[in-house]
Amino acid sequence: MTQYRFRLETGKIFPVKALISTKESELLSMQQHSLSNTVMRMKPVLIALLSCSFLYAGAQTRLITNVQARNSTSLNGQWQYIVDPYETGYYDYRWQERRSGDREAYWNSDVPDNKSDRKEHGYTDKYAIRVPGDWNSQDAKFLYYEGTVWYNRNFDFNKTNPSSKVFLHFGAVNYEAHVYLNGVKLGWHKGGFTPFNFEIPDSLLQATGNRLVVKVDNKRKRDEIPTLNTDWWNYGGITRDVHLIEVPPQFIVDYSLQLKKGSTNELVGWIKFNEAVNHKVLVEIRELGLWQDVTVKGDSAAFVLKANGLQLWSPENPKLYSVVLRNGSETITDKIGFRTVEAKGSQILLNGKPVFLRGICIHEEIPREIRRAYSTQDAARLLQQAKDLNCNMVRLAHYPHNEHMTRMADSLGILVWSEIPVYWTIDFTNEAVLQKAKQQLHEMITRDRNRASIIIWSVGNETPVHAARTAFMTSLVHTARAFDSSRLISAALEVHRVQGVNVVDDPLGQVTDIVSVNEYLGWYGGGLSAACRNAKWDIRYNKPFFISETGAEALSGYHADSLTRWSEEFQEWFYREQMDMMRRMPPNFAGISPWILNDFRSPRRNNPWYQEGWNNKGVYDQQGRKKKAFYVLKAYYDEMEKKYR
Ligand code: GCU
Repeated sequence: MTQYRFRLETGKIFPVKALISTKESELLSMQQHSLSNTVMRMKPVLIALLSCSFLYAGAQTRLITNVQARNSTSLNGQWQYIVDPYETGYYDYRWQERRSGDREAYWNSDVPDNKSDRKEHGYTDKYAIRVPGDWNSQDAKFLYYEGTVWYNRNFDFNKTNPSSKVFLHFGAVNYEAHVYLNGVKLGWHKGGFTPFNFEIPDSLLQATGNRLVVKVDNKRKRDEIPTLNTDWWNYGGITRDVHLIEVPPQFIVDYSLQLKKGSTNELVGWIKFNEAVNHKVLVEIRELGLWQDVTVKGDSAAFVLKANGLQLWSPENPKLYSVVLRNGSETITDKIGFRTVEAKGSQILLNGKPVFLRGICIHEEIPREIRRAYSTQDAARLLQQAKDLNCNMVRLAHYPHNEHMTRMADSLGILVWSEIPVYWTIDFTNEAVLQKAKQQLHEMITRDRNRASIIIWSVGNETPVHAARTAFMTSLVHTARAFDSSRLISAALEVHRVQGVNVVDDPLGQVTDIVSVNEYLGWYGGGLSAACRNAKWDIRYNKPFFISETGAEALSGYHADSLTRWSEEFQEWFYREQMDMMRRMPPNFAGISPWILNDFRSPRRNNPWYQEGWNNKGVYDQQGRKKKAFYVLKAYYDEMEKKYR
């Protein structure tokens, strides 16, 4: 049995592996005895972190967090491309994968050796698109394109320090990325909404004329996540920022700093290095007069900080502190808010006080430009729309949105539900699919672990209730909690009706911290909106109850009486009846996030008069104009804000 060791700041050394087999309760009892309990409580997290290297497929290296605070060079901009629906650049005419030296492979040079040489692929500025960005919105020929596109970017790069290491980091690539530098494969990654990075060996990096080629394939497949069927458009491409990151040979890969549950002044943290070291790291929060040396012997260390006079982060006071980690020449600065969140009985407590979630669901899309959102400006625009609704929470559907979004939510004081796209009917019986889901979960949590705004990790949406699914989802809930026990774990469950009663008894509700359901009473079944008046709810869990979706469609500007479906009046009426129903909900009712902020592109919506490839359930239309329903929802939120003040 291999032994892992790490030194607690109290000087005690613990053989980690032994603890893995120790029952949780023994751990808990050890915690009752000394101050280093706090550090003990982090053990499960550290153990989970230490032992999840199995998650890194395709030669990825451990995810480097807080990229924007690193010594990084952006590779954003115009990239040349080749559209390759037949994957000619990857497979030969016998559909055999091309070997690395194959001259016809699209990762190899496209320059002919001489005038007689036959080259049938090439990169030119004639065919170039922006990175970050989806390809569908950048050229009409791509509007409905799903398949392979090759990207090429040449760059020069001189290391500032010969001994440093260089990594290539992608914010996200939808869906499957194969990455080559100077004709050599660095690795591959699957999953369209989470970051990944590869180390660039010194032998490969040139001072000038580096050729970076990325094969991107966004074809939907049965055994992927999401799978074949979604109610959003499958935008393809290198959809988020790309950076070269230069770090010292021994560097801080990841770290965590959070307020201990139930505390108002004890910060618990850990630091993880790329390899075993014997270093002192200075943790500094100048505003709190906090400077503390953390001794790291091995590849990680845990620590505790006493922070007197701490202002807690909340929507009303989104206080962020500048936290600095100094590791020799390496300095990492982050803006972190400190708050606690928990489910206690039937309430969600934020910093120990009950909170009502005034939410809205958001897709990562700028509808006016029919494109994926990817920038700080995009985040500001979308979250400002939510603020104008008087929201204090957003559900980022149905996949992790870009980091600009979660950092903006930190600054604006908006609570966040973040989710992995285990959506509808994925292949629950396939172990490899479970591993893919866990990888996405790990990447999502790792990237945003220090974001105060995120209070809920969701492991999926509207997955059908059967044994294989429940086992699959339960495993995800446990994995999420092992990665991060400081937040609530949930999923958007389905509600079913028994003799007209809305019954919430999905078995997954046994393991989630809150019970969240999507209901469309008055739109999908159950009669028209008046059905809300006599709606009865039978919620089989004494846990906080959250409505993670409700909504109705309206074609903006189409006006009629409230019985006329697709009209703004119909949607307005729907919201009126729904909000009245919300006022009559059981006492464990903790909030809602209606579906959805903006109309969004969906290939499943093909009514030629009222949809034309759009899901028009937005309370804002494609141009950002408010629909009549907007005002009904805003009025309800103003009321709830007063009630819970
Ligand atoms: C579902 C689903 C959404 C979808 C919405 C709708 O509940 O979660 O992704 O867009 O309902 O039908 O509009």
